[in-house]
Amino acid sequence: MKSLFIGIHNCATFLATILLATFVGSLHVQLAAAADEVSIIHGARLYDDWFRESNVQPPVGPHPSFPAKNSGVPANETWRCSTCHGMDYKGSNGMVGIRTRQGADVKAIIALLKNATHKYDALISESDLQDIATFVSSGQMDMAAIVDASRRAKPTAQSFEKVYGTICAGCHDLDGRRMRGIPPLGEAARQRPNEVLHSILFGHPGREMPALLPLGVDVAAKMLAYLQTLPAVNLSVSVAHGGRLYDDWQAEEGARKQALAHPSYPATGYYAKQPQVTWRCRTCHGWDYKGNQGEYATGPSATGIKGIRGMAGGDTAQIMALLRNSTHQYGAVLKERDILDLANFVSSGQIDMDIAIDRTSRRFKGDAGHGSPYFRAICASCHGQDGKRITTTSLGRLVKRNPYGSMHMILNGHPDEKMPALRELDLQLAIDILTYVQDIP
Ligand code: HEC
Ligand code: HEC
Ligand code: HEC
Ligand code: HEC
Repeated sequence: MKSLFIGIHNCATFLATILLATFVGSLHVQLAAAADEVSIIHGARLYDDWFRESNVQPPVGPHPSFPAKNSGVPANETWRCSTCHGMDYKGSNGMVGIRTRQGADVKAIIALLKNATHKYDALISESDLQDIATFVSSGQMDMAAIVDASRRAKPTAQSFEKVYGTICAGCHDLDGRRMRGIPPLGEAARQRPNEVLHSILFGHPGREMPALLPLGVDVAAKMLAYLQTLPAVNLSVSVAHGGRLYDDWQAEEGARKQALAHPSYPATGYYAKQPQVTWRCRTCHGWDYKGNQGEYATGPSATGIKGIRGMAGGDTAQIMALLRNSTHQYGAVLKERDILDLANFVSSGQIDMDIAIDRTSRRFKGDAGHGSPYFRAICASCHGQDGKRITTTSLGRLVKRNPYGSMHMILNGHPDEKMPALRELDLQLAIDILTYVQDIP
């Protein structure tokens, strides 16, 4: 019976040993019958993402019962139970929850999953449907008992470091930041506690991660509380990296250049024949972040697409969702950590370029005399005193030609190059330096 601890996935047995050694004797949990537990854990992972768990493809196109007005959700996601019914089981995207079916008859739930609303009979095997229904009937809990309205876990995390360190850190590291495919665990636990609680209890669909359900909901709740204390990413580092990704993520990540134009790029746009350029954020939203309201409202590279200024100060989880939506489709090409860095840039990294640059004359508004010694000290080692050392066109001319891009680069650095990001220095100093540079002959 104890060997069933890890659920149905082939996790190393040493993990089971650690789990036992850590917890035996210190717990009072309500174990369901062991066979049910395996079924619940598998069912819960299928509920989270059945095609990832089973390693199959979902049908093409959105689920027919998914409301067309939520067109921002990628089509494949609409086939996940959790997209319609929520990771807190209380409904999401305007759909009903499944809380009322806790304790319901498993056969009746299976029938429901085959009905005209759901149509899962041809997609999910009978035994998987059985597991999902078992989860719905006996695996749900009321997450509001654990997570409060401000997304904080209610239990305290004292002394959970050892448990985390022995069970989880082997894969996730002590700071929870090892895997670039997912956000740092601390960030995820603070932003999406319900989802993370579900992962802690049941594991991650299709991945080798242990499920803590057999140890009881109270252990999982304390683990969630502990994860919420893990360090955040360094915001300045994340923002500057996000800024370089905004400029050109393909160069910054050394990623393969996109061969097809971005689906949201206007077919007649200036860059339509240079597919990789159409995937750069700045191509659609502008170097000044103002899209059709700013420098790129008119002119050859105008796209008519709005800017991102309205999202400054916005919720990063919401911005991350936006970058994965069907307008953007970055979920398929960028790592989670990069999407987080981009969201941090959008939320905390934008400046109002009108502070720095005069819109009519396109000249910087700073004090060249004050900027000059700083240019000689900080920039000339690479660019040369005359600004002609690295770039084929002189730096003075580049800055005059593209003041907005220059401002963005001086704050965030240049994608995939060693140029420093001056974001943490005084903004006025950056403006003064560029005021000086634009007049270098
Ligand atoms: C595209 C949206 C969508 C998806 C995906 C979806 N459902 Fe539903 N579900 C609904 C709608 C709409 C209803 C209510 C209407 C109905 O029951 O026919 C519902 C009802 C339910 C109910 C009954 C809730 C109640 O209180 O009456 C359960 C249980 C349920 N779904 C489970 C699941 C499970 C498990 C999955 C994944 C295998 C799933 N659903 C996937 C849309 C969805
Ligand atoms: C055997 C390796 C392994 C161990 C041990 C492990 N995990 Fe994971 N974990 C994973 C993998 C793999 C993923 C999914 C990564 C992906 O989707 O790219 C994951 C994902 C997660 C997620 C989802 C993050 C999100 O953004 O939704 C959470 C939360 C998590 N793990 C917490 C834990 C906790 C807590 C423990 C200890 C109880 C633990 N993990 C132990 C491998 C592991
Ligand atoms: C091919 C064009 C295109 C590219 C490239 C693009 N976007 Fe967008 N973006 C859009 C469109 C279209 C909208 C929706 C505008 C609307 O609602 O009218 C949008 C909306 C947004 C919004 C919401 C703005 C608001 O106030 O509602 C943000 C934030 C955003 N994009 C960020 C980004 C980031 C970051 C990148 C790069 C990773 C990016 N976009 C790349 C086309 C693009
Ligand atoms: C460690 C070397 C290094 C330092 C120091 C450095 N840069 Fe750069 N900079 C680069 C590299 C490399 C590029 C990319 C050149 C290219 O794309 O051809 C670049 C590009 C730029 C560009 C963009 C040019 C364009 O393509 O439009 C600007 C503007 C710029 N630097 C300004 C500055 C300023 C101002 C400073 C001082 C605050 C500075 N740089 C310090 C290495 C450096």
